[in-house]
This record gives sequence, structure tokens and C-alpha cells, in this order.
Amino acid sequence: MKTSIILGTRPEIIKMSPVIREYERQGLDYFILHTGQHYSYELDRIFFEELELPEAKYNLDVGSGPHGRQTGKMLMDIEQVLLKERPEVVLVEGDTNTILAGALAACKLRIKVGHVEAGLRSYDRSMPEEINRMLADHVSDYLFAPTGGAKDILLGEGIPESKIFVTGNTIVDAVHQNLQLAERKSHILEKLHIQKGEYLLATVHRAENTNAVDRLEDILKGFDLVHKEFRLPIIFPIHPRTRGVMKEYGLEAPAGVMLLEPVGFLDFLQLEANARLVLTDSGGVQEETCILKVPCVTLRDNTERPETLKVGSNILVGANKDRILDGVKEMMGRDRVWGNPFGDGNAGERIVKILRTLPAD
Ligand code: UD1
Ligand code: UDP
Repeated sequence: MKTSIILGTRPEIIKMSPVIREYERQGLDYFILHTGQHYSYELDRIFFEELELPEAKYNLDVGSGPHGRQTGKMLMDIEQVLLKERPEVVLVEGDTNTILAGALAACKLRIKVGHVEAGLRSYDRSMPEEINRMLADHVSDYLFAPTGGAKDILLGEGIPESKIFVTGNTIVDAVHQNLQLAERKSHILEKLHIQKGEYLLATVHRAENTNAVDRLEDILKGFDLVHKEFRLPIIFPIHPRTRGVMKEYGLEAPAGVMLLEPVGFLDFLQLEANARLVLTDSGGVQEETCILKVPCVTLRDNTERPETLKVGSNILVGANKDRILDGVKEMMGRDRVWGNPFGDGNAGERIVKILRTLPAD
């Protein structure tokens, strides 16, 4: 079952790592195809190094650009690799342009497509990720849904039950596999002179919060209000996209916000696990905070991770500064007693097992 694992961005590398480890452990025939959507050291290579992942056999070096050009270049180049390598299965993960191109290229060549983290929906089609995940799900042959809720969404869209497998989310595997390592190896708290439980952590990168500069401005004002109220430093490893917008529009981080370059997974896990609370618009961070029992305030108007709202680990506040402050106040008082809805940490193993037992046709 020769497999091509296609990835291209930070969260895909992290969330595919448990699947890659399983292919390695079992000595199966596979190769990694990296689109090069992310290419900066701290969004890409650092994760291969820290997670000790094998090198990609191909890197397409597609880089940044408008959606059509970026996705189109990937589509053309992925097709060439797939024609040459002729894998039986292509695996993609999540909702980026990389996965849309990977899934589309493969299905047109009649190569089976497996979508890891299938069935997520924000029901907000203005998000590029919503388009990508919907289209990828509908051209996939194997849909690895992280939760029962995701499976129900797929069934509701007419996808046959025989194609859907509830596996848990591979992010639980990645957290379990790396949390103790992070505690042992990361010195980020000492480096930043911060104490466990005495700081907040923030990330912002989503298109809706960076393309619309007024939203980013309001988020920064919200951070200012939160710092003034709680007097805790806000650690903000900033995505290059967000840094670029701040520079272009002359936006300054308020006092109390510590801007850092994006950090590696071990440092990020250490920061996350010991934060008093996290402010984010990231998908993966909503899940990780839920798993780590750290309260999360999400800087969005909707989420494709409703499980986090249901168990009480997360709250949606949009980009309004007063709602951000109110949300932080509410989540600071919340007991950290929720359960983890994203599975038992064996999703990677389960996915590979399913792929190996599927009948060839
Ligand atoms: C992409 C995904 C998003 C995912 C995120 C993970 C799409 C449409 N978006 O968003 O779903 O949550 O990755 O982080 O696929 N840049 C660099 N270095 C890099 C990569 C990007 O400096 O290695 C800068 C460039 O200025 C670029 C901008 O970031 O224009 C945006 O990069 P892009 O890959 O288009 O989107 P992300 O915001 O990273
Ligand atoms: N992350 C990281 N360093 C950082 C910020 C995030 O390693 O400075 C990790 C985080 O632990 C999570 C993933 O990156 O696993 C989330 O990626 P991102 O927020 O870029 O994308 P999304 O999940 O929103 O698609």
C-alpha cells in the first residue's frame, strides 16, 4: 500500500507526525511530499528536527501567494510527482490549500485519498479553510473523523458510512508523545523569565483577523485591557503573516505583550501547558488547550471545534476588545474539570491499521 503523505504547513507537520511515526515503526512503503507552503525555519524545519521526522522525498517549494496561484502551482507539481511515484493512497491532513491541491490531484489520477481530520465545519464559507475541508472531504475515499460529531456532519452531507472512520484526533497523540519531552527539554519559561501559571499565551494568524486590520487592532486593544486588568504578561509568538500586517499598518503591541518569533512545538507545548489561559484564533490551539486543561478564549465568531465549547474548555469572543476582556474574566473563573473529546492518543496507529485492512479494489 504505497502511500504519499502530503503536507505543507506547521499544523500539518505536527498532526501528521503520529501517522508518519507509525509508517516508520511498521516499516511501510511511503514517502513525504512537502508542498513548501510554509518554508520559514520556525514554521517548517524546526518541526522536522524536533519531532525527528524523516526528510520529505520531494519539496515543491511553492511558497506564498494568492490562493489561485499557490493552489494551482501545487496542483500541477503534485500531479507530476504522483504520476512518477504512482502511490496507491494519498494522505492529507486538515484544511489548508496544500490539502485541497493534494486531494484534488490524487482523485483526478484515481488514487485513493485519505483525509485525516475529516468532517470539521465552521459553516462559514468566507474562510478559505472551510472551502478546502469541504472539497477535500467530498473527494476522499477514507474519511478519518476525529469525533462522532464530525462523523455525523459527514453523514448529513451524504457521505456513505462505509467511508467514515472515527479515529480520534492525531493532535492528542502528538501532545501525549511530546509533553514530557517538552517539560524536560524546553527552557522557554526560564528564558522569558516567567513562572508557571503567571502568564497568558496568545496566537493570532487567521485571515479574517489579519486581512481585516481593524479586527487585528481591536484584538491588540483587547490584549491591552486584559493586561491592565490581570497584570499578567501576555506571551505572543507571532505568525509572520500577523507581524507583516502590524508592520505595514504601524500597529504596536501594547505594553505587557511580549512578542516572540514563532517557537517550536516543544517550547509551545511548555508555554501552553503552564499558561493561566490562552487567547487564540488557531484551530490546533483550541484542541490542545482542551487536552491540556488550560482555559481558552477564541478570537473568532465561530469554530469548527464545537466539542471544546460543549465541554467548557473554550469560549468564542470574536475580535471585540470588550468581549475579549469579558471572555478572559469568565474563563479565568472556570474549573478545569472538562474531559478530552478528541480521543485516546492512538489515532495515528488506528488510521494506519484501517488503511492496512481495507480491501484492495
Ligand atoms: C496557512 C493556512 C491556514 C493554517 C496556517 C497554519 C491556507 C489557506 N491557510 O495560513 O489554514 O491555519 O497556514 O499556520 O492554507 N509566511 C512566511 N513564512 C512561511 C509561510 C508564510 O513568512 O513559511 C508569510 C508570508 O508573508 C505569507 C503569509 O505568511 O504571505 C501567509 O502564508 P500562507 O501559507 O498563505 O497562509 P497562513 O496564514 O500561513
Ligand atoms: N505552534 C507552535 N509554535 C507556535 C505556535 C503554534 O508549535 O509558535 C503549534 C501549536 O502547538 C499547534 C499548531 O502549531 O499544534 C497550530 O498551528 P496554527 O495555529 O499555525 O494552525 P491551525 O491549527 O490554526 O491551522
